Amino acid sequence: MSADDWWKCGIVYQVYPRSFQDSNGDGIGDLDGIRARLDHLVSLGVDAVWISPIYPSPMADFGYDISDFCDIDPCFGTLDGFDALVQEANAKGLKLILDFVPNHTSDRHPWFVQSRSARSDARRDWYIWRDPAPDGGPPNNWLGNFGGPAWSFDATTGQYYAHSFLKEQPDLNWRNPEVRAAMYEVLRFWLRRGVDGFRVDVLSQIVKDEQFRDNPPNPDFVEGQDPFLRLTMLYNTDLPEVQPIVAEMRRVVDEFSDARSSRVLIGELYLPLARLVAYYGLNAKGVLEGVQLPFNFQLIGTEWQAARIDRVVRDYEAALPAGAQPNWVLGNHDRSRIASRVGPRMARLAAMLLLTLRGTPTLYYGDEIGMTDVPIPADEVQDPFEKNKPGMGLGRDPERTPMQWSAAAHAGFTTGIPWLRLASDWRMHNVEAQSHDPGSMLTLYRRLIALRRAQPALHRGTYEALEAGDEMLAYARESEGQRLVVILNFGATPAPVPPALVPRQPIVLASTDPVRAESIEGPLVLAPCEGVVIGSANDKGPTTR
Ligand code: GLC
Repeated sequence: MSADDWWKCGIVYQVYPRSFQDSNGDGIGDLDGIRARLDHLVSLGVDAVWISPIYPSPMADFGYDISDFCDIDPCFGTLDGFDALVQEANAKGLKLILDFVPNHTSDRHPWFVQSRSARSDARRDWYIWRDPAPDGGPPNNWLGNFGGPAWSFDATTGQYYAHSFLKEQPDLNWRNPEVRAAMYEVLRFWLRRGVDGFRVDVLSQIVKDEQFRDNPPNPDFVEGQDPFLRLTMLYNTDLPEVQPIVAEMRRVVDEFSDARSSRVLIGELYLPLARLVAYYGLNAKGVLEGVQLPFNFQLIGTEWQAARIDRVVRDYEAALPAGAQPNWVLGNHDRSRIASRVGPRMARLAAMLLLTLRGTPTLYYGDEIGMTDVPIPADEVQDPFEKNKPGMGLGRDPERTPMQWSAAAHAGFTTGIPWLRLASDWRMHNVEAQSHDPGSMLTLYRRLIALRRAQPALHRGTYEALEAGDEMLAYARESEGQRLVVILNFGATPAPVPPALVPRQPIVLASTDPVRAESIEGPLVLAPCEGVVIGSANDKGPTTR
């Protein structure tokens, strides 16, 4: 086992803590709830759990507005409870990854309270303050992600402060070495408590143009889209100055890596491919000094079609620097769920794709039971994104609804009133029901994960694209002489597989039918949205854990 195996061969599972499991009846998920559900993750077969922010927060952006980086919000629990969670997760063989939010704090964070108190305050420069434009308006045309300008006026000191998101989320000034030092201490605080890594929030935006130039108009903007997209973020995203900071962050987490286990950074980066792979931080000596996993969101953003996805995978493989670990993800707490985007049947094929591609997969909670987006009536909306830009389909509540555990009251999520409504079908559609159903999504996920863990070809093998026509995606995964072929029919009709692609070996796993494992005689025809893994399974193969 090498120190990197857990995040290179393993699988990450994202928990949105408000919605996973409530333990005290207040309707909000919490750390003790997560601890009580660790066995679900073990039986699913994942290796690491990433928990979205759990720190003290006024919850203007549900935890992404942090008022103390080194504590736990009372709605989620306590530091002792956190320590207990780390211990129990580790005892069950699970790693723990936290969310690190470097770009901004809450406006209630003592740093900002101090910073806004006077122009002469020692922490003034910890945030981004600018004089008004000559007309008294914002210093430039930058926009906030959640609506309105990226600047708010502070009457006390007569200046504007920058905020890439809500006005309650002032941006830190990463050009200030004191800010960097303080934020690295935050990383160390959690690393000392035994955390195995961080998912780093909006990493590409942490440094802004020194001259604060206006962003140019976006030539691809279409009327009716989110008005935020009117401008190209030329001067407040992915500036060259971000890279050395990423390398600094990496050195901090590396301080805590040892021969048995390395600590990992996963960057949230919505960037085009060429700019994304720069975050691996390939330096002149050929060493990767950036984040180990720059999140690859292409399966979220790409049209769901075999030829498109084939292109995406090939381009991504070709763009990776030597030694870089690929990664894939189908969804998260900011995007519509995969089962809603592509439909329930196709979501099974997507699961097979995610778990057979080369690279670390990240699963979003609930996708393993095929949860779908839940429409939230206007008077129940929680997400500020929806509140600020209503009716545009931007709100993120639908993909954040409570986990459906069982047919018990409130799906076993809480004994109180859930903070966000449950899907209407939770009585039928839950972990308990699916556990006993050989044809369920959960069973498929468990089987796919078990296969991936057991087969070196899948968790560490090479990737070879195969030609299978426009409606079918095919590839081979190979390790130490073992070769598995994956064939996925994206079409809406049954389709014969080109015979040359089909090895004279059994089907190891089919996405549609739990009993299709059989040897192939005659031509192989895949049902609509059916995928198969063919080859000789290596029964004695090492598992990743
Ligand atoms: C990231 C998070 C999102 C949050 C935003 C601001 O994109 O994933 O949920 O609202 O950053 O912190």
